[in-house]
Amino acid sequence: MSRGLLIVLEGGDSVGKTTQSRFLDRWLASHGVDHMMTREPGGTPLGSRIRTLLLDPASGTLDDRAEALLYAADKAQHVTEVMRPALERGQLVVCDRYIDSTLAYQGAGRVLDAAQIDALARWATDGLRPDLTVLLDADPAETTATIVDKDRMESESLDFHRRVRDEFLALAARDPQHYLVLPARDPRDRIAAAVRERLAPMLGIDTGSDLSDPDGTMRS
Ligand SMILES: Nc1ncnc2c1ncn2[C@@H]1O[C@H](COP(=O)(O)OP(=O)(O)O)[C@@H](O)[C@H]1O
Ligand SMILES: [Mg+2]
Repeated sequence: MSRGLLIVLEGGDSVGKTTQSRFLDRWLASHGVDHMMTREPGGTPLGSRIRTLLLDPASGTLDDRAEALLYAADKAQHVTEVMRPALERGQLVVCDRYIDSTLAYQGAGRVLDAAQIDALARWATDGLRPDLTVLLDADPAETTATIVDKDRMESESLDFHRRVRDEFLALAARDPQHYLVLPARDPRDRIAAAVRERLAPMLGIDTGSDLSDPDGTMRS
């Protein structure tokens, strides 16, 4: 069965995932690529409610396993309701956070058993793996630590966020052909260009036509 590609943007809080997903959305649209932008947690109506529970400081101290299961529930709903149907229609799906965020935050951050969290994430996503993960990497002292109105996860310690960063990098190092790791504090245009360069051959796009219009903004 032919299916679309799944591209995931990963990285810590405030590394620029939303910024890059906007660049990517415009570029894909400018080349007429049938695509869908989505995110975790919160890519479905149920997921938005789970997202609120997870990020609201009013949820208080969530048990680590309860937290992992809520993220897993969001993923299960998202894969079934949104991502798989889109991929089966042949669409390219761009997802802001996916399995690696669970492995990094709930596994390494919360220090839960890595093999159990991996099994949970695979089960929740019914084995759906990204074709490419773009990892935006930065020292959390330069990103998370500078956020003003922090949500529940962002309020964790610098040590927590360092474990998260290290786990993202370790996941990428284990499977390099499925990752593009980019320094998140590079100029945003340069990051966007590196993402396009990696994706273009996967999509049969000639980036030569982008030179006069690097963001694809003139065509969108
Ligand atoms: N390459 C970059 N260098 C410096 N700041 C950036 C860069 N990309 C994004 N930002 C800024 O960092 C902040 C967080 O970006 P955002 O895209 O919302 O991150 P995320 O979605 O990963 O939390 C925003 O103020 C954004 O303008
Ligand atoms: Mg974001």
